[in-house]
Amino acid sequence: LVLVVDFGAQYAQLIARRVREARVYSEIVPHHVPVAEMLARRPKAIILSGGPSSVYAEGAPSIDASLFEAGVPVFGMCYGFQLMASGLGGEVARTGAREYGRTAVSVAEPGTLLADVPAEHTVWMSHGDSVTAAPAGFSVLASTATTPVAAFENVDAGFAGVQWHPEVLHTEHGQQVLEHFLVDIAGCRQTWTMVNIVEEQIESIRAQIGERGHAICGLSGGVDSAVAAAIVQRAIGDRLTCVYVDHGLMRQGETEQVERDFVAATGVDLKVVDAEQRFLDALAGVTDPEEKRKVIGREFIRVFEAAEAEVLGEAVKETGETVAFLVQGTLYPDVVESGGGAGASNIKSHHNVGGLPDDLEFELVEPLRTLFKDEVRLVGEQLGLPPEIVWRQPFPGPGLGIRIIGEVTRARLDLLRQADAIAREEMTAAGLDRDIWQMPVVLLADVRSVGVQGDGRTYGHPVVLRPVTSEDAMTADWARLPYEVMERISTRITNEVEEVNRVTVDITSKPPGTIEWE
Ligand code: XMP
Repeated sequence: LVLVVDFGAQYAQLIARRVREARVYSEIVPHHVPVAEMLARRPKAIILSGGPSSVYAEGAPSIDASLFEAGVPVFGMCYGFQLMASGLGGEVARTGAREYGRTAVSVAEPGTLLADVPAEHTVWMSHGDSVTAAPAGFSVLASTATTPVAAFENVDAGFAGVQWHPEVLHTEHGQQVLEHFLVDIAGCRQTWTMVNIVEEQIESIRAQIGERGHAICGLSGGVDSAVAAAIVQRAIGDRLTCVYVDHGLMRQGETEQVERDFVAATGVDLKVVDAEQRFLDALAGVTDPEEKRKVIGREFIRVFEAAEAEVLGEAVKETGETVAFLVQGTLYPDVVESGGGAGASNIKSHHNVGGLPDDLEFELVEPLRTLFKDEVRLVGEQLGLPPEIVWRQPFPGPGLGIRIIGEVTRARLDLLRQADAIAREEMTAAGLDRDIWQMPVVLLADVRSVGVQGDGRTYGHPVVLRPVTSEDAMTADWARLPYEVMERISTRITNEVEEVNRVTVDITSKPPGTIEWE
């Protein structure tokens, strides 16, 4: 275990991911956690992240100097580098020499940390203060035009640091430097693999659910719930029941991927609830986006809970158990953001489902609680899940319901499904799936436009392509799709989808536009 101490910058999660890419398990701790508590977890190494502040600023986050006396290797980055320097008796000063963005660094002496890194290379910096003198016993490894001490190490003590951000994409050789610290200085073993993750999770799920417990998992068609279910299935077999609510708002082929391909790959016991008509009835006449979301959310919970009561009611009758387990695909970023630790979850969710015994308690099973999204996909591959599920791009819970501008009807859904399927096919054929974060296709169902096809006038609907690039969906840019790809999508949709006679592309970034239209 490597602990990444978070000083409030946005970089801690990225650092933790990079450590794991080096096949060493890592977790994030907020800087205000007492050092004794951090050490009690017996970390093999501690990384001090960057932070927004100057070490001299009032109220600047700090770390108790006892950290440096515990015999645990420490790596400081940016702000963490300065904390290390000042905590170990070096000097940090406001030199007025700020560096932001791409910066050239010169390696004077590679030592262990910068071994095999080119003498001149480019790194990403973001700092106002600078280390002006390294602590006693440290060798200075690198400098920049304005920062005399940009990297240092004391290999015997297990300490090293860099002024730059090795974790960001724009820093050359960042991963190599991080691995030199982890492996050559801290002596970490690179054993964190997807095979180990799956095995560990299976063990702990068995321990949590016990010999007789029954678990239920809602499948959405997305990667998180699919991987969570597949792991739990490995642990407890047919004592897991998956429920898939077919609300009729999925894209072409997605329900089959769950019903047929997912079941074939995992052998899970699946209960499909065909609720299409119910959703269409509930959505009849609804055009307001928020109202649509409310209706879809409400119906979903009702249908799911009824299925849950049926499945668990049976199981409780058979086993007499008083605890039911609910599997959820919670990911590590959600855990970090809600301030929770990454230990086993013991949260009880509040449930009040008609048809179940009053004293039945629900306990959450969260097999992905320690994982990042990219790790979840690797685990999914490891478990042999279909690539369409493992690599599926984000798709909103309310489905195509919020991609039809206007009332949602079956005929409109069919139109949109056809157009969307063509767009997805062409994106895949062009090899763009992993470059594009997401590409909603939106049907402007209440808008008509005039066209001409063959000899005749048409009066059909436009569709909008909304290709975006993004890191986290909080901000996004419109993706510059190659013209040939847009052309093929446009030609095929207007030829093959009757009633669609115009294809447009949305070139709005987020903000101001959201990714979805509703
Ligand atoms: P917006 O439209 O807010 O979307 O820019 C950001 C990301 O969230 C997805 N999204 C949803 N996901 N339920 C979901 O599970 C929803 O109600 C929902 N609305 C938007 C959207 O597809 C994009 O990836």
